[in-house]
Amino acid sequence: MSDRLVLDYNNMLSPRLGGRGIDPARLEALADRFAQAHAEVARRRDAGEIGFFQLPYQSEVREQVGNFANGLGQAFGTAVVLGIGGSALGAVALREALVKPHWNELDDDARDYFPRLYVLDNVDPSTLGPFLDRIDLGQALFNVISKSGSTAETMSQFLVVRDRLGRTFDDDGYRRHLVFTTDPEKGVLRRIARDEQIATLPIPPNVGGRFSVLSAVGLLPAALIGIDIDALLAGARDMDERCSSTQLRENPAGLFAVLQYLADTEQRAPMHVMMSYSDRLHGVADWFRQLWAESLGKEKNRAGETVNVGPTPLKAMGATDQHSQVQLYMEGPYDKTITFLTVDQRGEDLEVPKAYEDMPELAYLGGHTMGELLSAERQATARALAHRGRMNMTLRLPRVDAGGIGQLLMMLQIATVYAGELYGVDPLDQPGVELGKQLTYGLMGRPGYQAEAGEAPDPHWMSE
Ligand code: PA5
Repeated sequence: MSDRLVLDYNNMLSPRLGGRGIDPARLEALADRFAQAHAEVARRRDAGEIGFFQLPYQSEVREQVGNFANGLGQAFGTAVVLGIGGSALGAVALREALVKPHWNELDDDARDYFPRLYVLDNVDPSTLGPFLDRIDLGQALFNVISKSGSTAETMSQFLVVRDRLGRTFDDDGYRRHLVFTTDPEKGVLRRIARDEQIATLPIPPNVGGRFSVLSAVGLLPAALIGIDIDALLAGARDMDERCSSTQLRENPAGLFAVLQYLADTEQRAPMHVMMSYSDRLHGVADWFRQLWAESLGKEKNRAGETVNVGPTPLKAMGATDQHSQVQLYMEGPYDKTITFLTVDQRGEDLEVPKAYEDMPELAYLGGHTMGELLSAERQATARALAHRGRMNMTLRLPRVDAGGIGQLLMMLQIATVYAGELYGVDPLDQPGVELGKQLTYGLMGRPGYQAEAGEAPDPHWMSE
């Protein structure tokens, strides 16, 4: 692949940071440790424990997704994902990158793309009810995505939607508006699909939610809105190939993981900000936030000892957050790394017209493009941070296209499992989230879980 993602990490290293930052010798010293992490990840991959590596090579699922999207999927103008966490964030990242960038101000009617994809990843009634009132149910396909088939948020959304579909269509019509993406064997969603003959796509048992973007979880919503999923998977395969190197300096995911690990554990910088200088990559930063947090934030290490480790991923937008966050990044505690996401060739650009040539405060802008301004702001922020001894690195995509996004998503997933090895934790589980899920079941009266919820504590609220 000629259009390859580039990782520029000079500004993580002490020679660029006036003595602060990571000593290049420390990076060299971690080369063997990285090789061990690489070997352990390869072992777990070969043993079938880490399933996401296989996703870019699975032609059967790719075909199933294509058949559905090009067949029944064509009958709908609106696709709605019901899912949460890893079952939602990948679809948003793909949509924002490749179809509809993140905008703050324009409402949906002004976003002229078709067919539409909505991702409902919360259960706030003030959003869900009005949304369902507004869309044309006859035009809507609901993709219920849940690996476990038991997540309270997703299943309650499903029950609300099912009820509306049931009141609007006959049995056959009701079924046509649903497709489930879930475990191939287990879970209540699979059982309902069998009993009611609802179309389904599988999530492989060895692929967890946050590593599922290249399974049917991300591929079906992407294909429904016309994203080139073959190019996406090809980009991911290319990155997998690059990351087969055991040489730290040649492995982009390895470098990303080792540098962030050293920043956290040796430079006291546990805050990892991902700052996108492209509206299109905003969703990737959000997706990464979950991937990094849920995979690495752990109480126990793999030996069962209490370690309470994990960096805190944050997201920011350039240039917007230069006027919100960057003051803190420049002068606050030395507890952060900033990873800039940027694009070499922006598909669209806009020239700033020449005007007020007698006013130098404005005239310098005329004739440049908005893309040039955004790029200059990113470079200036990176240099200013380095000047102040603040660690930062840049992930540069040649273009925001399906191949580039496939590379980026795969790189960050591989980096996450390497980082799991470096921290000594299992990046594939999420026991902290599970406990919260069980307590919710208890509070909502699910049989077998009431004991978990216990008594409601006495409220200690401030009164007027
Ligand atoms: O990454 C994960 O495993 C989680 O974020 C899950 O995706 C999330 O909890 C939703 O779970 P499920 O897909 O089982 O409904």
